[in-house]
Amino acid sequence: MTRTHRIAVIPGDGIGVETVPEGIKALDAVAANHDFELEYTEYDFASANYWLKHGKMLPDNWFDELKGYDAIFFGAVGAPDVVPDHVSLWGSLLKFRRGFDQYANVRPVRLLPGIKSPLAGRLPGDIDFYVVRENTEGEYSSVGGIMFPETDREIVMQETVMTRTGVDRILKYAFELAESRERKHLTSATKSNGISISMPYWDERVKEMSAKYPDISVDKFHIDILTANFVLHPDWFDVVVASNLFGDILSDLGPACTGTIGVAPSGNINPERIYPSLFEPVHGSAPDIVGKGIANPVGQIWSASMMLNHLGEHAAGAAILEGIERVLTRGGDALTPDLGGSGTTISLGAEIATEISVAT
Ligand code: NAI
Ligand code: MG
Repeated sequence: MTRTHRIAVIPGDGIGVETVPEGIKALDAVAANHDFELEYTEYDFASANYWLKHGKMLPDNWFDELKGYDAIFFGAVGAPDVVPDHVSLWGSLLKFRRGFDQYANVRPVRLLPGIKSPLAGRLPGDIDFYVVRENTEGEYSSVGGIMFPETDREIVMQETVMTRTGVDRILKYAFELAESRERKHLTSATKSNGISISMPYWDERVKEMSAKYPDISVDKFHIDILTANFVLHPDWFDVVVASNLFGDILSDLGPACTGTIGVAPSGNINPERIYPSLFEPVHGSAPDIVGKGIANPVGQIWSASMMLNHLGEHAAGAAILEGIERVLTRGGDALTPDLGGSGTTISLGAEIATEISVAT
């Protein structure tokens, strides 16, 4: 029986409009070889053009419109010459993440063949781990305020909020991800020496959760030395779980250790599948190269692979990543300029789609 997955496609702004079609090409190529169908509905909101027409980033009924999809395939949002970045981001992507309770932000950190790591001497296979970031609470809270503004008594406070529900559910997600992997190793980012209330609590929850996963080895590092170890010993890591702020930092540092921003994907995941999860490249709308046709489509295509894994299509998700890896291994002119080639978004996307099709 053929399974059908319903996908909301939101290209957004800038190079998102250029890379999303290449992601779809890869999805179509892989679906043709596997026993499922993809049904796409494209939306023009979450973009500067929509904002110019309607004075807002999203229609009022965005939640009801999108909530029934199996996943959201997203490009990028941001056109700072037209809409201020905080308006475009808070008016669209952050609404999706919060409204759809996408509390796990997941980024693979993997050195692909054909890509040179900025870390000296690192080869593909040396770096292969995930950063799992708590995406809804922690240090990014709206609890706080300013008293006596602009006086000598001025006081500014912003509280970190950790709930047992919020901490436990991200830890559970990370432990389960570790369980699905060969090394079965989990690293927790902490700072319980300096942040002496919330971070010891985080450590305590990690300890309690680890009792439920006896086959997973667990270690923890304070965030300062952990960032150093990402650079010095990236081979130590398998799944790294972190609070919102620490995860924000680690999830940029990790992919940066594996080469160009143009190849990194991410998932904003609602693990309970009550709401759709959202898959997008790590990069933004890249106004500096928009319209030139040279945006690297790999981050978008790899996001498509993550989306299929989330939808339970593991063979198809793996086939996309293998297609990417074979094309990158061959290297040469087919690659986009950020990878040293002379290819275009469209030619590299087509090459990967062809590779996926012939590989059956
Ligand atoms: P950016 O990721 O758009 O660009 C940073 C640099 O990387 C630029 O030099 C760009 O040309 C290059 N780059 C990015 N993606 C590339 C690709 N696929 N191939 C080749 N080169 C690539 O980040 P920036 O410049 O800080 O932000 C630009 C806009 O994007 C802003 O409006 C920002 O708010 C938005 N943004 C949106 C995100 C999202 O939708 N999730 C994430 C990050 C930024
Ligand atoms: Mg960030």
